[in-house]
Amino acid sequence: MSISGQVTQLSKVTLLCAAMSLVAASFSEANPAPGVLPGSVTEQCASCHGRTGDSPSGKVPRLNGQHKAYLIQRLKGFLDLTRQAPHASYVMWDVAANITAERIDALASFYAAQDPTLPAPKPPLAAKGEALFHLGAPGVPACQQCHGAHGAGAATTPRIAGQHAAYLNQALIDFSTQARVSATMNHPALRLTDRQINELVAYLSND
Ligand code: HEC
Ligand code: HEC
Repeated sequence: MSISGQVTQLSKVTLLCAAMSLVAASFSEANPAPGVLPGSVTEQCASCHGRTGDSPSGKVPRLNGQHKAYLIQRLKGFLDLTRQAPHASYVMWDVAANITAERIDALASFYAAQDPTLPAPKPPLAAKGEALFHLGAPGVPACQQCHGAHGAGAATTPRIAGQHAAYLNQALIDFSTQARVSATMNHPALRLTDRQINELVAYLSND
């Protein structure tokens, strides 16, 4: 066989291998087994959010057990720079700009299927946070109206119980200053005082 013949044979084998690994990748990404990373993009996410989304850092939100519809909406939302806090755009815009809708769907299914982290309320502030969460206060609606009695959320309303304290604290400040624009959350957060934010975070979070 001539050299060019060998090269053609080789490139056929290479093409076949590439095609087979693409099929394998798309299969495993569409059907991620619990605890198994659905492909290379999740490796990228894992470097900050942890293997199952249970991130080790307080400023990086936990994704494990977060609702699929919320994850999809939020990932797409990072593309609109006018509605995100600058620190969120800084980290997540580039990530969100480079994933397809299909992959967003697979990633959201993967994280939604992981066990959520439970909250670890910190006394004495947590008791006041619990009352505020369930009953509200003048100018502050009860959080449970939307996030549910235990902060577990549903659909496009996120699970907030068991989230990192630093992230929750920052999110509430971002909503109250409207650095993060949200038709639903800017109003509930608008009149929260620093003390009330600390109380709510003590009740909801797990460091
Ligand atoms: C370089 C670190 C880093 C990488 C890589 C990264 N993230 Fe993030 N992600 C963050 C940080 C930090 C935030 C919080 C942004 C903020 O509000 O300041 C965040 C926020 C998010 C949120 C919002 C969560 C919520 O509760 O609203 C989602 C969803 C998310 N990331 C998904 C992903 C996915 C999926 C990938 C991989 C495709 C990924 N991230 C890659 C650091 C990262
Ligand atoms: C009217 C319904 C509603 C009420 C009341 C409400 N929330 Fe929310 N909350 C939402 C929705 C919907 C989102 C998602 C908003 C978005 O991403 O634009 C959200 C998002 C959040 C987030 C961001 C979570 C994340 O992962 O980034 C936090 C934190 C939060 N809410 C805390 C609270 C607290 C604390 C209260 C009570 C003071 C409260 N919410 C009251 C509907 C509500």
